[in-house]
Amino acid sequence: MVQHTATTLRPAPEGTRLGELWDVLPEESGVDANGVLTIGGIPVTELAAQYGTPLHIFDEVGLRRQIRRFVDGLAERWPNSEVLFASKSLPVVGMYRVAKEEGLSVDIAGGGELQLALAAGVDPAKLHFHGNAKSDAELEMALSVGIGAIIVDNEDELDRLERLLTKPQALLLRVIPGVEAETHASQATGGAKSKFGLPMDQALRAIERMNAHPLMEFEGVHLHIGSQILNTRQFAEAVEKISTAGTFATYDVGGGLGVKYTYADEAPTVDAYLDEIVAAAREHLPEGARIMIEPGRSIVARAGVTLYDVLSVKRTGNTFVAVNGGMADMLDVALTDQRFEAVIANRVTEPWTESVQLVGRQCESGDLLVDGAELPAARTGDLVVLATTGAYSYTLANNYNGALRPAIVFVGEGESRLVARRETYEDLLRLHAPAIEAAAAADARA
Ligand SMILES: Cc1ncc(COP(=O)(O)O)c(C=O)c1O
Repeated sequence: MVQHTATTLRPAPEGTRLGELWDVLPEESGVDANGVLTIGGIPVTELAAQYGTPLHIFDEVGLRRQIRRFVDGLAERWPNSEVLFASKSLPVVGMYRVAKEEGLSVDIAGGGELQLALAAGVDPAKLHFHGNAKSDAELEMALSVGIGAIIVDNEDELDRLERLLTKPQALLLRVIPGVEAETHASQATGGAKSKFGLPMDQALRAIERMNAHPLMEFEGVHLHIGSQILNTRQFAEAVEKISTAGTFATYDVGGGLGVKYTYADEAPTVDAYLDEIVAAAREHLPEGARIMIEPGRSIVARAGVTLYDVLSVKRTGNTFVAVNGGMADMLDVALTDQRFEAVIANRVTEPWTESVQLVGRQCESGDLLVDGAELPAARTGDLVVLATTGAYSYTLANNYNGALRPAIVFVGEGESRLVARRETYEDLLRLHAPAIEAAAAADARA
């Protein structure tokens, strides 16, 4: 760990929009006397020098504070409750560890996430296994480590479990609540045509089947209406819909709370979200039932930013500011049209004079990080921070054009720690060893 000391301020001079920045950047961010953005008390110029770029930086203090808002807030309102971290939003061993330390249970959706959680020391009994297409191998792995619960998606999965179960296993059933979430189509998962879960009539049949099986301990129902949902009424609607499935011990009402990505976005607070869900639960669910929620994005999004170097600035009618990353480390823009805000991190307090196309380095015109980012006149050597990138960025990272996955660093109170190292060219070549060895052998023979 490296100790830093930086005095951080949060200027918001009148006549500028600087004040708005602080609502999309991590809670523990500010600016130092040199006009450099600080996160967790560390100037990002120092983080760039130490760890290189592109770099995912997480404000660990703000992250843990946000987890407490969910855990304490739900426990106060509905004591028989549990908060699960939806780990698909940040499937990183260092994050699973934070989840464990903060007492969260964890939602995993595949063998890989199971391995990452176990590597972080998460108790398997606190893991819930989701997914609409689980394989025998994955189910066997989960059963062998003593998974806390399996969220059954369909009847084929019940066939698999009938074959594989050798001891009692807690199960929930995913149902389709029929709530069309107001979000990007690819992020809506609770509408009538969803590929996840069963419609109510089929769900009742599956429940009968589980109740009749000696090793299937059916505990209740699960739903998840989608992600980046800003209208909290939709969560209440989902609670009401799920109550029609019957009276059970447990109701898992999923994740999906949206966050503020842009200066213009208005996102609900955690308290407003919990108020809405719990009010609906009081009205529609049995008093003694256990309620579970599974936030992902709303736990990690704001805590994370991505730091890039500006590699070129081109004025051709449009101003293109190109950085040393792009859709290989930030696929969400191309996938869901998500809009982010950006800042020149080494000159935070300078006036924003230009609207630019902030672009990546991958070979597609769709590799546009921000369409119309408001910045001071950018130059090569500047550092750009893309804000609110903590969720689903590392998740969706890929090797387009041979790009290497960025490193991840957690910062707090003037200290930084590396939680995932940068991918290397050796990592990239490792999977291709069979072809590399065959090529070398053929060349030796030639
Ligand atoms: C079953 C399930 N639970 C929880 C989540 C987390 O959603 P979010 O990250 O929007 O909170 C997801 C992701 O879409 C999911 O599929």
